[in-house]
Amino acid sequence: MNQSNSILIQVPATTANLGSGFDCIGTALNLYNEFEFSLSDEKTSFTVVGDGQEKISLKDDNLLYQSFVKFYQHLNLPIPEVHIKISIKVPLARGLGSSATAIVAGLLAANYFSPQKLSQENLLNLAIAIEGHPDNVVPAFLGNCILSVGKENNWHFIPINCHEDIKFIVAIPDFELSTEEARSVLPKQLSYHDAIFNIAHFGLLIKGLETGKKDWLKEALNDKLHQPYRKSLIKGYDQIHEAVIQAQGYGMVISGAGPTLLALSSSLHAEKVIKVMKDTWENLGIKADVKCLDLDTKGTIIREI
Ligand code: HSE
Repeated sequence: MNQSNSILIQVPATTANLGSGFDCIGTALNLYNEFEFSLSDEKTSFTVVGDGQEKISLKDDNLLYQSFVKFYQHLNLPIPEVHIKISIKVPLARGLGSSATAIVAGLLAANYFSPQKLSQENLLNLAIAIEGHPDNVVPAFLGNCILSVGKENNWHFIPINCHEDIKFIVAIPDFELSTEEARSVLPKQLSYHDAIFNIAHFGLLIKGLETGKKDWLKEALNDKLHQPYRKSLIKGYDQIHEAVIQAQGYGMVISGAGPTLLALSSSLHAEKVIKVMKDTWENLGIKADVKCLDLDTKGTIIREI
């Protein structure tokens, strides 16, 4: 089969953790970064468009390009020269998996142009190794809500059904928080009490997502592994949480490592939840873009252009 010299890769944003599922569950959402790769006779180059474009490195240390290179190094193959055009729609460093979109796109572009291909399982293993945890890269690649269980090159990826009336409302503030900083505040050890709390809540989360049962979701979104430590990095966390509950949302969690806050709601209450999240943050002097998103079911798509 003839292959094209240019491809367009679309990768969805993701929201990881969903409260009690720290580092193991994530959901793909219908907001997408796009990456155009064209084989080139000239030295590799980049063009970037979209919000935050000035923050993207145009050199070899670019995460997208590093992931592209990693693929060829893994197979001991020469690295082709490419022109890469990045179109940013997923806000950077906000807890919506922008890094995961770059890692997945870099690996899949490399796999497309390579004379030797890797299986989906091997590509996922590489993506997880680059990111360090599976909860963004796996749903970004596969779509849907996915629980990842395993280690190193031995993972199970379990799709979790989400009830069709669950809305994912993301409130994206106009400040950044690095995953590194958000992980630096986590404790080195936890009590049995807190571990048991999270096991129980995570079990309930899976059933709550499946059934959309309000009481279950409301309880399930509580967590003791990361949010109690991270919330002080996000001004207004407690006030917005309270406002979401008052507006009849199921609850609110930190999206990934933050600072984006994710509320789950039924479609009936979604508009009110959007309004209170925006207003509460604005009353604290923080501008936020609040969007109601749906689950992405397709994952990464590659199109020849
Ligand atoms: N599970 C990760 C975290 C996601 O919360 O730190 C962020 O990349």
